[in-house]
Amino acid sequence: MNILILGSGGREHSLAWAVMQNPKCDKLIVAPGNAGIAQIADCASLDIENGGEVVSFAEENAIDFVIIGPEAPLAAGVADRLREAGILVFGPSGDAAKLEASKSFTKEVCDAANAPTAGYGHFTDAEAAKAHIRKNGAPIVVKADGLAAGKGVIVAMDEQTALDAIDDMFGGAFGGAGAEVVIEEFMEGEEASLFVLCDGEDILSIGTAQDHKRVGEGDTGPNTGGMGAYSPAPVLSAEIEAKAMEEIIKPTMKVMADRGMPYQGVLYAGLMIKDGQPRLVEYNVRFGDPECQVLMMRLGGQVLDLMQAAAEGRLAEAQVNWADDHAITVVMAAHGYPGSYEKGTEITGLDALPEDSANMVFHAGTKAEDGKVLATGGRVLNVTARGESLQEARDRAYAMVNGVDWPGGFFRRDIGWRALD
Ligand code: AMP
Ligand code: GLY
Repeated sequence: MNILILGSGGREHSLAWAVMQNPKCDKLIVAPGNAGIAQIADCASLDIENGGEVVSFAEENAIDFVIIGPEAPLAAGVADRLREAGILVFGPSGDAAKLEASKSFTKEVCDAANAPTAGYGHFTDAEAAKAHIRKNGAPIVVKADGLAAGKGVIVAMDEQTALDAIDDMFGGAFGGAGAEVVIEEFMEGEEASLFVLCDGEDILSIGTAQDHKRVGEGDTGPNTGGMGAYSPAPVLSAEIEAKAMEEIIKPTMKVMADRGMPYQGVLYAGLMIKDGQPRLVEYNVRFGDPECQVLMMRLGGQVLDLMQAAAEGRLAEAQVNWADDHAITVVMAAHGYPGSYEKGTEITGLDALPEDSANMVFHAGTKAEDGKVLATGGRVLNVTARGESLQEARDRAYAMVNGVDWPGGFFRRDIGWRALD
């Protein structure tokens, strides 16, 4: 099978790493890829949000299966273009991708599905939005409706912050994404993520994880794309997972199918858990980054069979073979991230690190130049390890982190603290 993966982050490096372990994979191309991916697969430059260009590339390279990593090509309808061309693809249609691309769409689908989530109001007018905030008071959560690269959510602990967020959003701070806002009830609890595969009809759980969104230790400082993750997340017990499946995910998938937009791909449910009850915070229509890295570490090559079964509508007959293991990933980021950061600093020491089924450094924002590995992004490396216990996995991961020589970078030393303390 010839496979094309779209994307360039740590998520895509881990997908490529897992897919390559499956003997079914004859040839793997990743577009656009990064320096780490280039060590294990061919990389090609391609405008991955341009469906026509992706279809032509897939046809020219005799690609049998396309796996779409990030949300932007999904929201742009790239999966639809591939399906129309008769190419097997893993990822939802542009319509179904609205579960991530529009917060008001998702809230309305949750209403129809009767899925537990935060109460909300949807506004296209700043004065009405402010009146809603004054009436309900803080804490309260203000969200730009559309995709805003993870920056469109303001959790306001006081009323003025929420009112200022409305001015920012209607003032164009998030471009078109802020012309509509959703204002939500603030939910308390502990967050964790549940990942399921869907084929339009059947649903298969492929694991749980917990991200670390804040930049600083002890979950302090500004929000980031995620500074580390581990899987499984004990807070999402089998009982709570079953509840989330029955009360949130299955009814949502049914509403989508009933509306003529069956969901196919991976669905990432961000959940808030309190007193044994899960509530939906958000859906994403792709793997989380860095959550994907820990899931791939645990699933390995079977993930290709599972993604193919989802794409071909055969999930009913699929099953996951679980090892009773744990995985953790520590993100190394450039100094300054998530604010402005320096690019082009050199990373050394990577060659001496172990690379096997229990230890792997996935690259996010890197490039190779003159035999050197240079940092090009905010989040740069995902140092990932697996073990029989979370503690063992964590010790392995931090031992590798210590072997990375990168004066231009930093990392959190407390990844996994909620599960270990
Ligand atoms: P989102 O992009 O919707 O996942 O929001 C980003 C983060 O904001 C979430 O991971 C939560 O930590 C927080 N958040 C979003 N919505 C709520 C809510 N209704 N109550 C409390 N926290 C929230
Ligand atoms: N790590 C959070 C996300 O991928 O959205």
